[in-house]
Amino acid sequence: MRRRLPPFVAGNWKMYLTRAEAGLLLDAVAKGAPALAPAELVVLPPYTTLAEASARLRGGPVAWGAQNLHWEDKGAFTGEISGPMLAEAGCRFVAVGHSERRKYFGETDETVNRRTLAALRAGLRPIVCVGETLEQREAGKMMDVIARQLEGGLAGLAAEPFGHIVLAYEPVWAIGTGRTAAPVQAEEVHGFIRGRLQEKVGKAAADCAIILYGGSVKTANAYSLFKEQNIDGFLVGGASLEAESFLGIAAEAVKAYKEVQ
Ligand code: PGA
Repeated sequence: MRRRLPPFVAGNWKMYLTRAEAGLLLDAVAKGAPALAPAELVVLPPYTTLAEASARLRGGPVAWGAQNLHWEDKGAFTGEISGPMLAEAGCRFVAVGHSERRKYFGETDETVNRRTLAALRAGLRPIVCVGETLEQREAGKMMDVIARQLEGGLAGLAAEPFGHIVLAYEPVWAIGTGRTAAPVQAEEVHGFIRGRLQEKVGKAAADCAIILYGGSVKTANAYSLFKEQNIDGFLVGGASLEAESFLGIAAEAVKAYKEVQ
């Protein structure tokens, strides 16, 4: 049996919260975090709130990161933000290839790969997102899609950087819909992802890889999802905008973790 990792819970704030609202949320998350050890908590606010995160979280147990980065380290790319800039802003993590970026902003497996490499170059830990649409699932193409996204997104990476990469399985049909994947549905894909990693980088590295589930995670479903062998934590959208639900999800994961140890 694979040794379970402590829960990793990241909040993807998307394009929400003013700085004042963010300040309140950051303080509340920082206050609640120590009681949730050994969970690792991360917030991914909008770029304009990163300074607020740095001011309020620095030196504490909650890490912060961004929701995207450009694949070049600098250059004439109006409107873009690079890995070194995020590192300077104190980020330790950055989401890459979220399905909203794939759907609305032309993200491809190739650009996911370039951004992943850029994140690693800057010393950031990428949270690389994969996931199928409902049409793909219903057409029986789910595993092909996931395999292709993994293969493309992680192309050219050897075993060593895998200790720094976090993966997130987020079925598109579960994001923001209130329709969470059932634990067994999520586990089926998580097990598949870990199997693919094993082929790529070997069992030891694959066993240590953090694979998150995302898509309508709430306090009420976090416990049963985390009980599954290959679900190491969550990428939380809507429920990360309130401290009570974000911390509640982490608390449920910690409870499940203590039971499966
Ligand atoms: P959700 O979003 O929790 O609101 O479904 C998850 C995500 O997009 O990362």
